[in-house]
Amino acid sequence: MNKHSIAGEIYVLKIGGSVLTDKGEIRKARKATIKRISKEIVQAAPKNLILVHGAGSFGHPQAKVYLKSRELKDALITHEAVKELNWLVVSALTDCGQKAIPLHPLSAVVSKGGKIVYKLNDQIELALKQGIIPVLHGDIILDDEDGFCIVSGDQLVVYAAKEFKASRVGLGTDVDGVFDDSGVVIRNLTLQDVEKQNIKGSEHVDVTGGMKEKVELLVQLAARYKIRAVLFNAAEESNVVKFLRGDDDLVGTVVTG
Ligand code: IPE
Repeated sequence: MNKHSIAGEIYVLKIGGSVLTDKGEIRKARKATIKRISKEIVQAAPKNLILVHGAGSFGHPQAKVYLKSRELKDALITHEAVKELNWLVVSALTDCGQKAIPLHPLSAVVSKGGKIVYKLNDQIELALKQGIIPVLHGDIILDDEDGFCIVSGDQLVVYAAKEFKASRVGLGTDVDGVFDDSGVVIRNLTLQDVEKQNIKGSEHVDVTGGMKEKVELLVQLAARYKIRAVLFNAAEESNVVKFLRGDDDLVGTVVTG
């Protein structure tokens, strides 16, 4: 059970690496998009927001090299790359007048016996209490069995949502949601639907899986903790504001248990 003492509702938002970076390149950030999303966050002014971002071209290609070589230097390169993207996000928020701090999973999250152990609660809680947005990211972390492994931004979303009993959870990707076979966005997705649907993965170099893995995690969040999440297109202007404000006209897929 969580014991935090944050006043007001808590939102968790992840912005995918495919939105913030060009996934076809290496370490190529979409700075204008990072700026636009920061402005939208400031515009919506959520009371308590835990922000998570993916790695995109600042992590996936580098992690792929590490997973092959298993060399420490490649693990470090992966962490350094995603830290660089994290700094771009934190700085963009700061430039908009929003207090934000980086929280790097490598320093506070480990994988033990195949289970991910998060030691980030205090940092998140104290940041929120001071009106600071904690900015987490997918990262490479120590593994007790085998060097390092990857914790994805999506896993961090599930962790933060359940620990802080989030009332609004969103995953901003570069597509409008989950599509059915005829290319129409599925507005409401349940566990049964997931078993029936043929949900496609990402087209890019991706060490953490694509849409299918995302939906599976969110279905568990909904089924076990009764927390619904919405998948929407954060590459489209105003959608982050709409999500944070809870606007009904946000196009996306709501994942329920
Ligand atoms: C991946 O995080 C982390 C690393 C590869 C180091 P995510 O899986 O959350 O990243 P995106 O959103 O797919 O880019």
